[in-house]
Amino acid sequence: MSPSKTALVTGASTGIGRAFAVELAARGYNVVVVARDVVKLEALAQELKGSNGGDAEVLPADLTDPDQLRVVEERVADTSRPIDLLVNNAGFATMGRFAASEIDREIEEISLNVVALVRLSRASLAPMVERGSGGLINVASIAAFQPNPLNATYGATKAYVNSFSQAVHEELKGTGVKCMVLCPGFTRTDFQANANIDSGEVPDFLWQTSEEVVASALRAYDRGRAVCVPGALNTGVAAFTGFMPSGVTRRVAAMVIRRAEK
Ligand SMILES: NC(=O)c1ccc[n+]([C@@H]2O[C@H](COP(=O)([O-])OP(=O)(O)OC[C@H]3O[C@@H](n4cnc5c(N)ncnc54)[C@H](OP(=O)(O)O)[C@@H]3O)[C@@H](O)[C@H]2O)c1
Repeated sequence: MSPSKTALVTGASTGIGRAFAVELAARGYNVVVVARDVVKLEALAQELKGSNGGDAEVLPADLTDPDQLRVVEERVADTSRPIDLLVNNAGFATMGRFAASEIDREIEEISLNVVALVRLSRASLAPMVERGSGGLINVASIAAFQPNPLNATYGATKAYVNSFSQAVHEELKGTGVKCMVLCPGFTRTDFQANANIDSGEVPDFLWQTSEEVVASALRAYDRGRAVCVPGALNTGVAAFTGFMPSGVTRRVAAMVIRRAEK
């Protein structure tokens, strides 16, 4: 029998998004996988198809392109093929001094990390609230908790996702629909190489795998949590930044990021 629940995961071609798709299929979801790399998405769909008797749908899209984003918005809003869980995971980071940045790339980062996430959240929530079930997991970062010198736009996009998702979580109380923000720390994926971050400068004990992050996220989501910070160390960092003055946390962040800058 085909599973009755469907999850749509953005940024499913690699990393944390791929691990979400694999784990959700293992938990009995049909999955819709979204990213730009259609070859990787097709290979993933082949791997997932039939692993649980369910379906794996490939929906290639560059979410910074308004026309391609609209197609994904229409898919999540389609009440004839309801989405029960939307994982807004696609994202990337730019590194370096903002004054010397390539402005179009910064805007692209805002388009993916914020605009696409907000549009897909809005498109999926209307039918979920109408049905009285379903939910969102929005992927931010522990970078959301303080200003991030040399990573300014990225940290600001993740602060937006954190604030936005927690506010929507409160608004949804009593509707049967959930919204959780996931704030991972250093996770071994292609993310660092793509952002020109020197992973060798980050000590081993700070790292988690995508599978560990996803397991924590789904446990917290099942419990109806507003925020998930996976891993005890990351939880400690988040707590520390919560009670320290921003003048201290932004200097500490600058020291850490400067070490990892290539
Ligand atoms: N890894 C970490 O240490 C870490 C820490 C905290 C938070 N995060 C967050 O976790 C999320 C996933 O990151 P990751 O670590 O798994 O990185 P990743 O391995 O680089 O994966 C990023 C995913 O986003 C997709 N993507 C990039 N640009 C896109 C676009 N324009 N349109 C559609 N999809 C696009 C990529 O697929 P295509 O290239 O095929 O499009 C890929 O599937 C991000 O939001 C990131 O900010 C990561």
